[in-house]
Amino acid sequence: MVKMETAELETDLSLFKYDSLEQLPPQYRDLETSERTERIEAALEELGDDVVILGHNYQRQEIVEHADFIGDSYQLSKEAANADAEYVIFGGVTFMAESADIITDDDQTVILPSMEASCPMAGMAEALQVDAAWAEITAATPHETIIPITYMNSYADLKAFCASQGGLVCTSSNAHKAFEYAFEKGDKVLFLPDKHLGENTAHRLGMEDAIAEWDPWDPEGKDAAAVAESDIILWDGYCQVHERFTTDHIEQVRDSNPDAQVIVHPECRREVVEAADKAGSTAEICRTVEEADPGDTWAIGTEIHLTEHLQRWHPDVNVLPLCGDACMDCNAMRQIDPNYLTWVLEELVAGRERNVIDVAPEEKELAGLALERMLEI
Ligand code: 13P
Ligand code: SF4
Repeated sequence: MVKMETAELETDLSLFKYDSLEQLPPQYRDLETSERTERIEAALEELGDDVVILGHNYQRQEIVEHADFIGDSYQLSKEAANADAEYVIFGGVTFMAESADIITDDDQTVILPSMEASCPMAGMAEALQVDAAWAEITAATPHETIIPITYMNSYADLKAFCASQGGLVCTSSNAHKAFEYAFEKGDKVLFLPDKHLGENTAHRLGMEDAIAEWDPWDPEGKDAAAVAESDIILWDGYCQVHERFTTDHIEQVRDSNPDAQVIVHPECRREVVEAADKAGSTAEICRTVEEADPGDTWAIGTEIHLTEHLQRWHPDVNVLPLCGDACMDCNAMRQIDPNYLTWVLEELVAGRERNVIDVAPEEKELAGLALERMLEI
């Protein structure tokens, strides 16, 4: 393999998690679809086993069609852990690529085609903010042990913080197990950043009366007394793609399709999960449609690209978007566009690494421990 040089491109964007944000060179901005596909395939042929492409279920078709593995964030973190390739190209968002970097060996390099793919929910719990909250919450509960759990949708420094306090990471498919683990070790759980997944998990465990919310942006919303009384403290973060779904959408879809069953992601509001027939991670949503009988109708409450993939993958099942044309794509996932994929692959062929995700060594070890604890539950 050619010796790599780290690219240095001028950029004036500093809004995102990584300051190595590189903009797409102009010659890659208007590629024709067929030319682009040919160039991606040619680069992949050239790179051979040196590269593996992981594609999250929310990625657009032009990305997943090149992926070696497609899945939810949990499945992809396992694929990253098993990958032998020198380069892992992550079709997903920053927090997923960070987890891949933490889990893979030191001689493997993780590339996120566009550094602008930053999940807004992950940005709702900055480690500094969490440190301040932790000081207040622990002061309000001096005689109890609080175990912090962070959803996978968070940055590496927060994962490291959770590990340092005896906590762990979870995904939407194993949040209930993470809560059980935490209650074996301590008295209370601080769950970050998604309050809806936290609330839905509390219901699943029959602990819905034990919830308090912590709103880090609102001085009135930080109620230390409520926290002292409650066993589950939920950070006030959310996903705007999933918060959009309402019980009206469920009623409307059932009115126009009386046979329809509804499945939603657990990032949806509590009342939506309650009104649906089923709730589950993106992998569970895929499994449900895969196992459906021909002619069944499933309305899907999650990011629109997954619904479109399911329509394509299972033409014998009637797959509907839960809120019709109003269903959203994820703005962060959308940043991974096929022009970026072409660019990072052709740069690798030329011996240059672009948009490398490299988690700071001091965070890697502890964040890795938080992920390991998750993989063991
Ligand atoms: P999964 O954990 O189901 O892949 O979901 C990730 C995500 O970002 C959902 O919004
Ligand atoms: Fe983040 Fe929501 Fe996008 Fe998932 S769908 S990556 S939680 S913004």
